[in-house]
Amino acid sequence: MAGLRRGIRWWAAAAVLTCVVMLIMPPEVSAVRYIVGGNMGWTTNVNYTVWAQGKQFYLGDWLFFVYDRNQMNVLEVNSTDYDNCISDHPLHDWTTGAGREVVPLNVTKTRYFISGKGFCFGGVKVAIHVEKPPPPPTYSPQKSVSPGLLNSFRAQIFVPVLFAVAAAWDSFLLRL
Ligand SMILES: *[C@@H]1O[C@H](CO)[C@@H](O)[C@H](O)[C@H]1NC(C)=O
Ligand SMILES: *[C@@H]1O[C@H](CO)[C@@H](O)[C@H](O)[C@H]1NC(C)=O
Ligand SMILES: *[C@@H]1O[C@H](CO)[C@@H](O)[C@H](O)[C@H]1NC(C)=O
Repeated sequence: MAGLRRGIRWWAAAAVLTCVVMLIMPPEVSAVRYIVGGNMGWTTNVNYTVWAQGKQFYLGDWLFFVYDRNQMNVLEVNSTDYDNCISDHPLHDWTTGAGREVVPLNVTKTRYFISGKGFCFGGVKVAIHVEKPPPPPTYSPQKSVSPGLLNSFRAQIFVPVLFAVAAAWDSFLLRL
């Protein structure tokens, strides 16, 4: 019994340590999925130029458009049509009608997205400059995912994990 208990404690300690290490580690390892407009999503009254500012979009990252499917859509256009909000002949219509579209940033160029149905004129448009990722050997901690996104990601994933581990630990200690 004592051995089992010690084993579980070790396991719990290891789990907590793993979480702590994950919290400390930079997010460099994986591609980033950007929710366009953050908490607001793809809608009116968001300045997407401001939203995109300070973010670096790398090849392999993803854009995630979350929107009211009865209103907005997601069209990829060229720079001229972006500037003039022309939605008649998009390069690509990403709209599936689900209100959630995932766009892979798999080409290094500036990509232009607008909503048709007149919303582009109200500012529902975003230009995304996609760059090559920095070379992997030169480790640089400042891949600038916005701190907000990073923190919310951590809060969403790691905090519940920590709580779950803590809860599991408690229940083990209570039960044994
Ligand atoms: C968005 O913000 C930028 C930078 O502050 C500004 O230049 C631009 O006019 C704004 N766009 C809209 C549609 O308000
Ligand atoms: C964008 O597409 C329109 C229509 O096909 C074309 O007239 C315009 O020249 C294009 N602009 C650029 C920058 O390629
Ligand atoms: C990028 O992804 C789109 C959608 O999945 C695909 O249609 C396109 O062929 C891809 N382009 C490249 C260069 O991989």
